[in-house]
Amino acid sequence: MKEKRSGILGIGKKLGSKVLTNPDLEKMVDTSDEWIRTRTGIIERHIVEEGETTVTLATAASQEAIKEAGIDPEDIGLVIVTTITPEQPLPATASFVQEEIGAVNAGAFDLVVACPGFVYGVSIADSLIKTDMCKYILVISCDILSHITNWDDRTTCVLFADGAGAAVIGEIESSRGFLATALHNRPFSELLEIPAGGVRKPITPELLEKKENKVIMRGNELFKVAVKAMSDVSKEVLEKADYSIEQVDHLVPHQANIRITDAVANRLKIDPEKAFTNIQYMGNNSSATIPASLYDLAKSGKLKKGDVVLSPSFGAGVSYGAFLIIW
Ligand code: ACO
Repeated sequence: MKEKRSGILGIGKKLGSKVLTNPDLEKMVDTSDEWIRTRTGIIERHIVEEGETTVTLATAASQEAIKEAGIDPEDIGLVIVTTITPEQPLPATASFVQEEIGAVNAGAFDLVVACPGFVYGVSIADSLIKTDMCKYILVISCDILSHITNWDDRTTCVLFADGAGAAVIGEIESSRGFLATALHNRPFSELLEIPAGGVRKPITPELLEKKENKVIMRGNELFKVAVKAMSDVSKEVLEKADYSIEQVDHLVPHQANIRITDAVANRLKIDPEKAFTNIQYMGNNSSATIPASLYDLAKSGKLKKGDVVLSPSFGAGVSYGAFLIIW
């Protein structure tokens, strides 16, 4: 008997409506279009406008994914939202999205793993579909990073953006779907953190003044950890699935910096033409980057049924992971 396979049945995307360009940022901090383009690859990014929130973006991306999958929201067994910018502290953002999309029979929870959220989410979904726990699972990755960005810090504010990507995961024919996933974490929390606002350091006026409720990052050190982590975990999933790098049609990594993507492609010895990037106009949307990239690649017609896709990611933690899928 062939093993049951799960795969992506429908995919959706929604970015913040406001476009923020490099020249816009030149007016806000001591930076230049030239520095941002050459050091990160980013030309512009999308951020939310008044009235747009984690739930509105997540709902829009979900509705598109559900429509493409051609399923009834009532058949969704679980809604997973991966986010570090929840709608509010309680209840889970997934609970709001479940209500908006009419997934009345679903369980709902949030997953906090920063940028690799989509990789973690689909890995959980894959296991639960294979074990018949659910028929369909909706994994939505949505982050409003503009909300946790220190807009006076030029080392982070040029990178981050707001967006959502969603995927309906369900059973798929045995020649397609997820081949392998891998999840890891290394204790380098000081490389990327929001120190204040939790139980350890509740918000005070002094901490607000010091912007300790916003992202603080040691970008240069994180860069090196990211390249190694994404390369290693990519090799791990290839080995698990007994695939070679030559069999991969598309490398669709987390979009954090175009130089990180180039370095990972170089380490993996994959044809650079196969490395996908849309960071030029998206910026870093945290966990939404991989589903949004799969969406862009699919809609461009370059991602075809039967293509093999390798997606590694990394983020705060340092958490990292990857999946290998036949589209
Ligand atoms: N404009 C102009 N100059 C800048 C800017 C800026 N926006 N930012 C930093 N600089 C300066 C620095 O101050 C430094 O100046 P100095 O030499 O006078 O001290 C110089 O540029 C070089 O700084 P580095 O930090 O060494 O620059 P680097 O080439 O490493 O690029 C960057 C910085 C873009 C942050 C890079 O390290 C990076 O991308 N790291 C990974 C970060 C990341 O991916 N984080 C997100 C992961 S988690 C998530 O996705 C939510």
